[in-house]
Amino acid sequence: MRKPIIAGNWKMHKSIAEGVDFVAKVKDALQGTEVEPVICAPFTMLKDLKQAAAGTNIRIGAQNMHYEESGAFTGEIAPSMLAELKVDYVIIGHSERRQYYNETDETVNRKAKQALAHGIIPIICVGESLKQREEGSTKEIVGNQTKKALEGLSGTEVKSLVIAYEPIWAIGTGKTATAAQANEVIAYIREVVKELCSEEVSEEIRIQYGGSVKPSNVEEIMNESDIDGALVGGASLQPEDFVSLVNF
Ligand code: PGA
Repeated sequence: MRKPIIAGNWKMHKSIAEGVDFVAKVKDALQGTEVEPVICAPFTMLKDLKQAAAGTNIRIGAQNMHYEESGAFTGEIAPSMLAELKVDYVIIGHSERRQYYNETDETVNRKAKQALAHGIIPIICVGESLKQREEGSTKEIVGNQTKKALEGLSGTEVKSLVIAYEPIWAIGTGKTATAAQANEVIAYIREVVKELCSEEVSEEIRIQYGGSVKPSNVEEIMNESDIDGALVGGASLQPEDFVSLVNF
């Protein structure tokens, strides 16, 4: 049985005080849920959020990291620095990072390996653009991104990580893929994982959908056979909405 995982991606929002206050507001309402709640927050508040979430079921994630251990990379954060904070998850290869910060399939792969080596679970994002969908190449694009991201990882590593299928055209646009559209691509990603690793790994890996998920559509999405969770941007910023998403 795959444990559902609903992760908020706060992007570049909230002060430390706002983040800590958010955790205080949601933690009681999230206790005892079957779903794993995760908050992926800016670097500056990770330490405080870990403290605020201590003793709860809320897991804390970062939104990026570098693939090198250390070095002359001004402004970057090393995997060991996140591990030192005992961060549970790290988003890797979000489409905004691919688009604005030259993230490539190769850097995604290197980062995924480093995260796993440091005991941090990567949430690897894949997804096609609107043009690619219209051209009919969604599966080819997403399949290739998945294969490249997972290159060189063992089956044990692959089944421990999370993939987020996020069609770029659905992120922050209010346009959600239909639950059936999302499920079709996610089932295909599972097939790709089966080919790469094994049936067992493909049955265990958790695959989320992301792109304009909100309290009003989360249930329909989560009811699909292959969708194990959601990666949520805009609708994860308000405590009541986050509680509704996790307790869908
Ligand atoms: P959105 O963002 O929920 O605001 O569409 C999702 C994401 O970028 O992960």
